[in-house]
Amino acid sequence: KDGLPSFSLKEVGHHNSKDSNIWVTYKEGVYDITDFVDKHPGGDQILIAAGSSVEPFWLLYGVHENKHVYKILETYRIGNLQKDEIGALSDDMSDPYGKEPIRHPILQPASIKPFNAECPPSLLIENFITPNEIFYVRNHLPVPVIDPATYELEVEIEGQNRTATFTLNELKKLPKCTIVATIMCAGNRRGDMTKVKAVKGLNWGPGAVGTATWTGVRLSDILRTVGVNEDDGYKHVQFEGIDYDVTGKSYGASIPIWKALDKRGDALLAYEMNGVPIPRDHGFPIRVIVPGVVGARNVKWLGRIIVSEKESESHWQQNDYKGFSPSTDWDTVDFTKSPAIQELPVISAICQPNEGDKVKVVDGCILVRGYAWSGGGQKIVRVDVTVDAGKTWHVANLDNQDTAEPPQHWAWTLWSVRIPVDESAKNLEIWAKAVDSSYNTQPESFENIWNLRGCS
Ligand code: HEM
Ligand code: MTE
Repeated sequence: KDGLPSFSLKEVGHHNSKDSNIWVTYKEGVYDITDFVDKHPGGDQILIAAGSSVEPFWLLYGVHENKHVYKILETYRIGNLQKDEIGALSDDMSDPYGKEPIRHPILQPASIKPFNAECPPSLLIENFITPNEIFYVRNHLPVPVIDPATYELEVEIEGQNRTATFTLNELKKLPKCTIVATIMCAGNRRGDMTKVKAVKGLNWGPGAVGTATWTGVRLSDILRTVGVNEDDGYKHVQFEGIDYDVTGKSYGASIPIWKALDKRGDALLAYEMNGVPIPRDHGFPIRVIVPGVVGARNVKWLGRIIVSEKESESHWQQNDYKGFSPSTDWDTVDFTKSPAIQELPVISAICQPNEGDKVKVVDGCILVRGYAWSGGGQKIVRVDVTVDAGKTWHVANLDNQDTAEPPQHWAWTLWSVRIPVDESAKNLEIWAKAVDSSYNTQPESFENIWNLRGCS
């Protein structure tokens, strides 16, 4: 492989169809696989990686973890990625978004600046753990560039006039904890709510959710290290990001102190996502993971923790990520009257088939697959699916669930069900509803939970 030419990611990206040849990357290698496409045992699916990296797909389809596959791939090698592009940044000093990480093109953007994107639903449910490259990204501001060598986390206890600081190395020396947790944006599936009536917010499909293993230090350990205890009278733990808006204000959020101090609450200051340092888009070098709680409180690029009697004053805690009645509009809304969302309600989504797909009928049945999840550490106990508007319900198989019990069941459930259908039917409407271990049931439709901000 030495002596082969170097290519930029941009150049690889241009080779994404048979006319221009099909190139892919794997680690630092660049491959022209045009002649292999028709021989691929997995068929046309291979084209999903045209012009980009095969790595996230190989994490989803484990058959590729095989010497035989790497051997085939090497026979198509035409070069290497430019060294300076491995983990590269775009570099435009005049643009606040000039230092963004390079993203995998399979992420479907809802907005570019700031970058917000989700994974296509059919890929999302291929694996219990979502590969980092295809994990949804929800950024409100530009991604900060943080040097891990000089990074410091500040912890302030209000009214005590003292601030403790921790370097990344100091945090890594504290007892290590790993959890599997799903994170979901409050706006996940907002696109469905928009069909009822327009809302203000990014038009997310069902992919603003993902599941990863998170490794880091327990927030409760840090708080106890700096001398915070249950009976001190503090009520909230505030987090500030190192991402700033044009006025110099950082992203911020807070959680109730019980969640932060409760050992079973599993709130973490995470430095690894799926076994590697957290990627820049997801909060490098430290992000807060508050399992069971809306994505917005899982503050990325954490710079400061404030133990306080008050909630975070940030826009995102006070004037966003709150729920309202379907009859509240922008003239009548009063954000002070509604509590900030913390634990999210039960949800499920159908990811296969996709809306509008032509569906194969096998032995008189169609296959329906999706995910379900509930906030607050509740477990999914049932998913019911109907294709006849609720006359008959089919109970889905819960194929993949973590083994934890409530109130620490942080990860989603992947489910599937085969449903008999009338083969002459032209259109089918499929409904799914999940039930969690508190026996909360997913709402019937979006109509009666519609709200002006489009929160779940
Ligand atoms: C199966 C090679 C890219 C999806 C396979 C197999 C090989 C292979 C050798 C058969 C494995 C076995 O059963 O032992 C390759 C090579 C690729 C590539 C060399 C890149 C250059 C992809 C991509 C996808 C994909 C990007 C994305 C969806 C699949 C699937 C199967 C498969 C779904 C399983 C098919 C089945 O079980 O019937 N691939 N693959 N492959 N591949 Fe790929
Ligand atoms: N933290 C900071 N510092 N800045 C942000 O914009 N977005 C929040 C949260 N933490 C955000 C943040 C929101 S709204 C969500 S849904 C999650 O991060 C998304 O996490 P992800 O991009 O890793 O999927």
